[in-house]
Amino acid sequence: MISETDDVAKTLPARYYTDPAVFDNELRRFYSEMWVCIGRSNQIPAPGDYFLREIAGESLIVVRETKDTIRTFFNVCRHRGTRICPVTEGHFAGHIQCGYHGWKYALDGRLLGAPHMHEIFRREQYPLHDVDTDVWDGHIFINMAKTTQSLRTQLADLPQKFSHWRMGELALYRRTSYDVKANWKLILLNYNECLHCPVLHPALNAISDYRSGNNDEPNLSYIGGSMEFRDGARTMSTDGKLRRAYLPGLSEQECSKVYYYAVYPNLLLSLHPDYMMTHLLFPRAVDRTEVICEWHFDPAEMAKPGFEGDDAVRFWDETNRQDWCISELSQAGIRSKAYTPGPYSPSERLLWAFDQMILEREKPAS
Ligand code: FES
Ligand SMILES: [Fe+2]
Repeated sequence: MISETDDVAKTLPARYYTDPAVFDNELRRFYSEMWVCIGRSNQIPAPGDYFLREIAGESLIVVRETKDTIRTFFNVCRHRGTRICPVTEGHFAGHIQCGYHGWKYALDGRLLGAPHMHEIFRREQYPLHDVDTDVWDGHIFINMAKTTQSLRTQLADLPQKFSHWRMGELALYRRTSYDVKANWKLILLNYNECLHCPVLHPALNAISDYRSGNNDEPNLSYIGGSMEFRDGARTMSTDGKLRRAYLPGLSEQECSKVYYYAVYPNLLLSLHPDYMMTHLLFPRAVDRTEVICEWHFDPAEMAKPGFEGDDAVRFWDETNRQDWCISELSQAGIRSKAYTPGPYSPSERLLWAFDQMILEREKPAS
């Protein structure tokens, strides 16, 4: 039915994609105050292994303290504030040491030694500033807000919903990063609709019908749904052929679909019958986002002679590039003075729900 008043759901005003002040507020509301996914626990398998992550303008050290404990610290020395570690990943041999005057910290953040300070203070007063860290099935999340809301609460029903994929047991096969000249929300919006698939992704549309989508009710933690394969296709790959066994634990129905979920604010989780793909979004500017994409497989399959994973990597790398290209064109168009919010179709309901969540969370506290 045609609306007389044009009272239809519309896209957000341009400032949500172009205004640095809006962007700064989003970094605070979404990337400082929420649990944010920063990587996988198997990136740092041994005590002392670490990687750095920049979130909301802060450099963080993510380090494995023990077999069962991962810790995150601000990369800031307690002496005179120097960035302690400049190398993006590596291994600390038992302690973390500042390169300026040699203050030394344990892997749990305790200050172990402070040369030339003549014991003028107690060491317990100056541990590294820590950041709350938790893990969901191998995905590491951090929260810089010292919030009382647990990761479990933020994730809602996702841990039960996806337990069959046993994500914590999957192993990294490939990691690629992309520098996308688009606002992070445009990338997330693009991920959550497939009306563009026949036009932009003919190869994807040949394997999975864009009309087969079945979405969950949107909620405050995520949006997402599943899509089915076309006849003959059994996974998302260059030709739709299955080259690996299904992941152990999946039901017949779960093997017939791909599940695409945007877990707020920055994890795009794509669960296939035979592998998991993740995208992590790291906003760098109002019009720039670093995207890290990874492909994870069952280690038992990876250990088999003749294991192949490149069909999945090639397929999604090409699809990724198509998506980044259109997201950059969206960013370019929205910057124009001619842009005004346009109407969402009924099939773009998830996008509207995402926008509403953004508006709700960005409201100043009353
Ligand atoms: S600033 Fe780190 S030891 Fe002095
Ligand atoms: Fe796409």
